[in-house]
Order: sequence, then structure tokens, then C-alpha cells
Amino acid sequence: MEEISPIDGSRRGLKTTLYLLSLFVYCTQSLYADHPGKAAIASAHYLATEAGHEVLAQGGNAFDAAVAVSSVLAVVEQTSSGIGGGALWLLHRASDNHEVMIDGREMAPAAAHKDMYLNADGSVNRDLAVNGPLAAAIPGEVAGLEHLAVNYGKLPLAQSLKPAIRIAREGFPVYTKLFRMLEYKEKVIRRWPAATKAFLPAGKVPEMGQIISLPELADVLEKIAGEGRDGFYTGAVAQKLVAGVRAAGGIWSMEDLAGYVVKERKPVRAHYAGYELVTAPPPSSGGIAIAEMLNILEPYHVEKLGKVQRTHLVVEAMRRAFRDRALYLGDPDFYPVPQSMLIAPDYAAGLRAGIMFDKATPSDMLPGRDNLPDGTDTSHFSIIDSAGNMVAATLTVNTIFGSSFMVPGTGFVLNNEMDDFSAKPGEPNAYGLIGFTANEIQPKKRPLSSMSPTLILGADKVAVLGTPGGSRIISMVLLGVLDFMAGNGPQSWVKLPRYHHQFLPDRISAEPDAFTAEEVLALQAMGHSVEVRNRCWGNMHGVMWDRKTGEVTAASDARSDAGRAIVR
Ligand code: GLY
Repeated sequence: MEEISPIDGSRRGLKTTLYLLSLFVYCTQSLYADHPGKAAIASAHYLATEAGHEVLAQGGNAFDAAVAVSSVLAVVEQTSSGIGGGALWLLHRASDNHEVMIDGREMAPAAAHKDMYLNADGSVNRDLAVNGPLAAAIPGEVAGLEHLAVNYGKLPLAQSLKPAIRIAREGFPVYTKLFRMLEYKEKVIRRWPAATKAFLPAGKVPEMGQIISLPELADVLEKIAGEGRDGFYTGAVAQKLVAGVRAAGGIWSMEDLAGYVVKERKPVRAHYAGYELVTAPPPSSGGIAIAEMLNILEPYHVEKLGKVQRTHLVVEAMRRAFRDRALYLGDPDFYPVPQSMLIAPDYAAGLRAGIMFDKATPSDMLPGRDNLPDGTDTSHFSIIDSAGNMVAATLTVNTIFGSSFMVPGTGFVLNNEMDDFSAKPGEPNAYGLIGFTANEIQPKKRPLSSMSPTLILGADKVAVLGTPGGSRIISMVLLGVLDFMAGNGPQSWVKLPRYHHQFLPDRISAEPDAFTAEEVLALQAMGHSVEVRNRCWGNMHGVMWDRKTGEVTAASDARSDAGRAIVR
């Protein structure tokens, strides 16, 4: 008789359990519809959502729709994303259940160096880091769009770019967010004549409803439609970009543009309450931070706890994940990110052991802190097509209108993504985030992102979500995921009151409606510092397919007026 060692026996038991589990999942799944039959798109602008449906109606799939939505956002929402910036598109292909992240994140130019934003006294020159051409990294969005169309779409790139070209040429009406953000950035925009001509026609902030057209941007998009990425990264457009950037004090070269590379990255996966989360890997910090926080939180069953206790534990998870973001995360092509450690349940168990149920952990008491070396903006859209293909995409020029710098004759602003690097160890960037060696500036490196496009996959339901919001992207997506786990749909995730903790500064910041006065007092009694802000944040767009009921739902955040979710 064969002798079975306890180890073999438990392995065999594990194998049987896994087999039965997969049989159960297969049988349950086969009870449900295998495709939604309808398509849902939720984005930050109604013209972008309509453009996505337009290419779906022409026989395109979710990936073609993603090209159309991204490129229309690049015209109508330059506050937040555009062809002068970058994006992360997380894809699920239904035919073979393939998931991949298309990394169109910007890259530092070859002449960038780690001290490039330091004044003579060693302090950081914040103006240079965020305004003007020196703040701009080499854009990745155009290369990403071509990659999407060629490798995943059904339609030619030129066809999916048509709505964006049309809207850039014919114009679109000024809406509330654009109007407010133009008022907010007017002074900076005025520094550069091309940006002033495009966004301050007649020399002033346009009226609400006034039509803005961007014919030069339409010309650039037409070049891309005709020549693919070469229409942007080499040839006449590239020459214009390099000359314009250098004339205004920037450091781009023709080689930087021609050398831009799109990367396909393996997504980060996390498991929570029987669902699988597929989310953004480095060079975003979002997926790892969300996986780490979910691992810490799962055994607490936070959905069953009272609000103050739940908030306390969620904040303690945020604190720890953001600490690790500061210490360990950067472009994986340049820095050995300890990804498997950070998303391991055992690592989370160690972090959980340090959490007290009734007391905040001061951030400077966390292990490792002493070892540190001295020293609404962005956009998101979510798509599911009738075949079940999904796209979660977060796109950015970094802060509002990016660097606000526009090369004459192009019609689009350049990003200021260089500020997502750590300009100096421990020195906060525009989002108050700190970083060290992992995210220091190096030539051709990608700056660390917080963008967290996310898919939730379950036998009964699948969901797509994400949001802009700088460092708060990560906590907003976490709260959205926890709300999904509590049984709620997109309408609920997008309107949840939000709170955030990012390790340093050591405080909870909260939207005006997030907590009652009593809840604030209860959190303070546990040792948390709570800052109730007078403004809301985020612009979440989510879609969900309930495979049991067949229902497809979508929702856009009401915090912004222009967003639109359409199921058709
Ligand atoms: N630029 C915002 C981010 O990537 O996190």
C-alpha cells in the first residue's frame, strides 16, 4: 500500500479541493449568461461616452471604443488627459480571458537627471517641477492608442479617431469643470501664447457654453490617423514639438520621441471575499497598494463593522500601504520593486498584527520609518462591450492642464508628469506624496503613478472602476471595491463620501459629508487627526454586469457635471 506522508496527503487534499472549487465555479458560471448582450460606457465627458458607442455601433469592440473615448477626452478634457500625456489601459479580452495592462505612461527625457528641479540652496523649485516644458515627460498616450487599435481592436486606428478629429475641428461647448479650471489656471496658461490662444480666445476665460474648437489638434490627430505613432513621434509633428519645447527651456530631443516604448504589463491580482481583483501593476503604485490594503482588511470583515471602527481599520490599512508606496515603489524597469512580498497575505498579516483596534498608529511609529534615507486632474473611463470585453483606463496629464505649456501649432497641452517623480528624497510633490530612491528621476524612467484602473471578476458579477484624483485615486478605488463587496453597484460607488490617509501627512482627510461630528470625535478619541475638507474630490466612472440577472449598469460621478454613463 502506498504510504502517504502528511505533506503529500495535504497536497493531494488541496488538489482535490482546488479541483472541486474550479468545477463549482465552472458549473455556476455556465448557469449564467456568457456575455452581457449590451454595452456600457462611463466616462468624464458625454461626447467621449457617445464616441465610444459610435464606434461600437460600427462593429468595433471595447478596445476600439477605448481608443475613441481616450481621443475625445484628449480634445474636450485637456484639464485631465490628452495626447500630451499618458495612460494605463487595463484590458480583459473575453474570447480567451486574457488580462493585460497597456502601459502608455510617460518617460523621462534622456537629458533628465535627479537634481534637475533643485535650486542652488538644495530646495525644490516647485514652479519648474510643475509649470512649463521642463515639467513635461515624453508622452505615451498616442503610442498606447496605436498599440490598442493594432493588437486588440477590430477597426483601423483612423476610424476610431474620427469622432475626436470631428470634435476638435467643429468645436465643443465650454462646461462647468472646464470653465472653473480655466479660471483656476488662467495666470499660468497666460505665460504661453499657444495655450492662451487655444483656451483663452479673445484673451479671456470663455463663457459657459461658448464653442471651443482646436483645428491644430485636429490636424495632429489626422496625422496620427494617417501614419499611426510615426505621425506623432517622428516627422513634422515631432520636429515641431522638440523645437517648441527647447525654445521655451525644455530638454526633449527627437531621439526621446522616437524612442518612446509602450509596455505590456502583467496586472496585479488580489483576492477578496471570493472575487478576483485585476488591477494596475508598477509603474503604478495603485494595484499593489490596493492589494496590500485588501489583504490587511479581509479577515476583519469590515462590511459588518460600525462606521467608526470600519473607518479606523481602513485608515490603518491605507497608512501602511502608502508607507510602502513611499519606500518601495518605482518604475520596475529601473528599481527592484518587491512586488511579491508586498501583495503576499503573510506580509499583510504582519502589518495587521501592528494594528490596534482602539488606537491610531502614529505614522512615524511604523517600523522602517526610522530607516528612511535623510533628507483633479487625470481622467478615467470604464467600458464593457456586449461580448464581455472590458477596459478600465485611467489617463493623465498630471495636475490640471498639466504643465499648461503648449507648443505653437499643436493645440494640446503637455503633461507635468515629471512631478510624479520624487524631486528630492522625502520632499512632497503636488499631492503631498513623498518618495526616495525607488522613484528618483533617471533618464528614460517612468514616474511612479497612483492610477488604479481596476476590474473585479466573480462568477456572478464583474465590474470595472477607477477615478482620477492623484494620491487619493488609491483610497477611492479601495472604498469603491469595498462597497462592491458589500453588495452595491456603480450608482453607489460613485457617490460614496470619501476619506483618505496617505501615511504622511499623518491625518485623515475627509469630504464634507464623510463623517458626522460624533464620528469625527470618535476617530479623534482613537488618536486620528481628522481634517474635514470643504471640497469633494474624484470623478469615478464604473460599470457592472450582473451575470445572474443579466443586468448591465453604469454610473458617472455626480461631482463633475460633464460625465456620462450610457448602457445601450
Ligand atoms: N499623475 C497622476 C498619477 O499618475 O498618479
